[in-house]
Amino acid sequence: MDGLEGQSVIVTGGTRGIGLGIVRRLARAGVRLTISGRKPERLERVARELEEAGAAHLIVQADVGDADASAHVVERALEAFGQVDGLVANAQSLRPVTPLEEVTARDLDVLLDSGPRGTLWLMQAVLPAMRARGRGRIITMGSAMGLTGPPGYGAYSAAKEAIRSLTRTAANEWGRHGITVNCICPASVAHRLPPGDDGPRAAAFAAMYADQALGRDGDPEADIAPVVAFLLSDASQYMTGQTLMVDGGGIMRA
Ligand SMILES: NC(=O)c1ccc[n+]([C@@H]2O[C@H](COP(=O)([O-])OP(=O)(O)OC[C@H]3O[C@@H](n4cnc5c(N)ncnc54)[C@H](OP(=O)(O)O)[C@@H]3O)[C@@H](O)[C@H]2O)c1
Repeated sequence: MDGLEGQSVIVTGGTRGIGLGIVRRLARAGVRLTISGRKPERLERVARELEEAGAAHLIVQADVGDADASAHVVERALEAFGQVDGLVANAQSLRPVTPLEEVTARDLDVLLDSGPRGTLWLMQAVLPAMRARGRGRIITMGSAMGLTGPPGYGAYSAAKEAIRSLTRTAANEWGRHGITVNCICPASVAHRLPPGDDGPRAAAFAAMYADQALGRDGDPEADIAPVVAFLLSDASQYMTGQTLMVDGGGIMRA
């Protein structure tokens, strides 16, 4: 499947939501996975699942905003699997919806540390190994919100646009080493609702999807992860510095 079998891929924030969907899809393709996140119980749950599936994996507790911790994730992946073929820089912390005039330094720190700073630390950490092998795949996570600027999400949108900018620079600087760097703007929010929630947030999500071309939420494993698999594979070898909207056509609503 995809020619990904045996590849060594790091997925940050691979313990829930979109990251977990990517992990499950890549595990089925025979990818050797290094998964990072902060909460031990989430990490242990993924480890148990992959153990039961017989998938080669390594779990590393690390906050992506900490450059040393990010370097450690890559060191551990290299020790365990001898190479790093791909990085999926998926982790991102969130803050409550906040009007721009009320955004605090703390809000910005959380969003920028886990977003562009964390993405950059991981990109820097995987570079030497990818450059030495003359091949690498880096996938970053932007957001349609960065393009459309909805009210209340100013700091988050800025963080995600900074990631798209880093994506283009890395693509230009590292392309000659055989490294491609592309960004995905996904849409998949159901996992953010507590099970059985049919309150106002669920209604807002439903209204949002009703107005989109495909008219439904994205599934992390079935809708988002296959595009990640494509970007990790040789099928995308002539694409770099690009943003793919994996959002059911939602961007056309803007
Ligand atoms: N969901 C969407 O519709 C949507 C739309 C546009 C863009 N995106 C982007 O897609 C990515 C995944 O979204 P999601 O909805 O699946 O997110 P999510 O449900 O909030 O999951 C985030 C994952 O990242 C980890 N994480 C958060 N902060 C971290 C940090 N500082 N260091 C290490 N791990 C961290 C979390 O685990 P711990 O908390 O245990 O660390 C969790 O595994 C994000 O980059 C997001 O911005 C999502």
